[in-house]
Amino acid sequence: MINFTSMRTTIVSILLLVACIVIAGFSPFYTPLENDTPASLGQKLFNEKMLSLDSSVSCASCHKPAFAFADTLAFSIGIGGKLTKRNTPSVLNMKNRPYYFWDGRASTLKEQALMPISHPDEMGLPVQEAVIRLNNSPIYSALFKKIYKQAANAKNIGAAFAAYENTLETINSKFDDWGNNIKNLSASEERGRQVFISAKAKCFDCHFREDFTNDDFKNIGLFNGKDLNDSGRFLITRKRIDIGKFKTPGLRNIAVTAPYMHNGMFATLEEVVDYYNNPKKVVPDAINIDPSLQQPLGLTEKEKKDLVAFLKTLTDKKFIKKEALMHNQLTSIIDK
Ligand code: HEC
Ligand code: HEC
Repeated sequence: MINFTSMRTTIVSILLLVACIVIAGFSPFYTPLENDTPASLGQKLFNEKMLSLDSSVSCASCHKPAFAFADTLAFSIGIGGKLTKRNTPSVLNMKNRPYYFWDGRASTLKEQALMPISHPDEMGLPVQEAVIRLNNSPIYSALFKKIYKQAANAKNIGAAFAAYENTLETINSKFDDWGNNIKNLSASEERGRQVFISAKAKCFDCHFREDFTNDDFKNIGLFNGKDLNDSGRFLITRKRIDIGKFKTPGLRNIAVTAPYMHNGMFATLEEVVDYYNNPKKVVPDAINIDPSLQQPLGLTEKEKKDLVAFLKTLTDKKFIKKEALMHNQLTSIIDK
């Protein structure tokens, strides 16, 4: 006798499996790098759960390739279900930045990479223990010997992560085509571009250069010492002038990395733009807010919409293809 329920379950499982394989196959940055280089080793380590205390979390658990190496939560989940205290930023376009982390506490990728491994809210494993685990693994000990001619140590682990992260540059967005003289922006996107660089909106005062960041620390009004009590850069420098300042994030792939800000307090780009338009409406008692943001910008509804349309042109085509594909796969499964 045929059991129809279990047959249906099997069919659905097979469909899901096929969808997963197809989706994974098209996943951005999924393609393995050329074998046995510092970058390919770094890629392997980036996905290695053994580098967390209970082997449950890897870098990619929070920096998810499908979401431009960020994730979709305000605060991400580390070992034992612990939440991070800040929003997970993308790790794309990190090459040659002068600072890392929202408060800039690391100044090189090599140094940065070891910090999440031992951070109690993230991977919770002392770096020395990580070194021992890698050297006890036949695969990794062979890879380190082949690539670095020595056993794994804190220094070459950091170097491998940095080599991988240096490959994660994105330069193939609609906006880049525009920059290469392909006049492809819609009327709304083009108006948004002009708003973005205008003296009225001032976005370009801080979000400039090729990755849309000044690589500096600014206070946009998200610190009041009460419910908003992360004092950011001040925690590192202890200078009063740095209270509430955070690293200006780059804006490439911004449409894929919601929620926004160091505390993930805005769910959409529309909310971000509304905030900038009148910061006091959201945080009336901000301390030390940048002078350029003390008065409302007075953007019209149309200007706000155009600005968001422009921000969406900064998404690399890898992620656009992925979004469309996931959408098609899922609808075709649901249709069945
Ligand atoms: C549990 C989630 C989690 C894990 C696991 C994790 N990160 Fe992060 N990552 C974060 C958060 C949250 C921040 C921001 C923290 C801050 O600024 O104080 C961050 C920041 C970063 C930054 C700085 C980005 C910038 O814009 O300055 C880099 C680079 C980075 N992580 C790489 C890694 C690497 C490499 C690993 C693995 C060794 C890793 N992360 C593991 C959550 C995570
Ligand atoms: C005075 C400098 C400054 C100006 C002007 C400015 N920004 Fe920002 N921007 C920042 C800083 C700093 C942050 C991070 C703040 C935080 O997390 O507390 C940020 C964060 C963002 C984010 C969220 C990024 C993320 O990864 O979470 C977006 C989107 C953004 N800005 C867009 C804009 C737009 C659009 C404008 C113009 C309307 C603008 N910014 C004007 C400095 C600035």
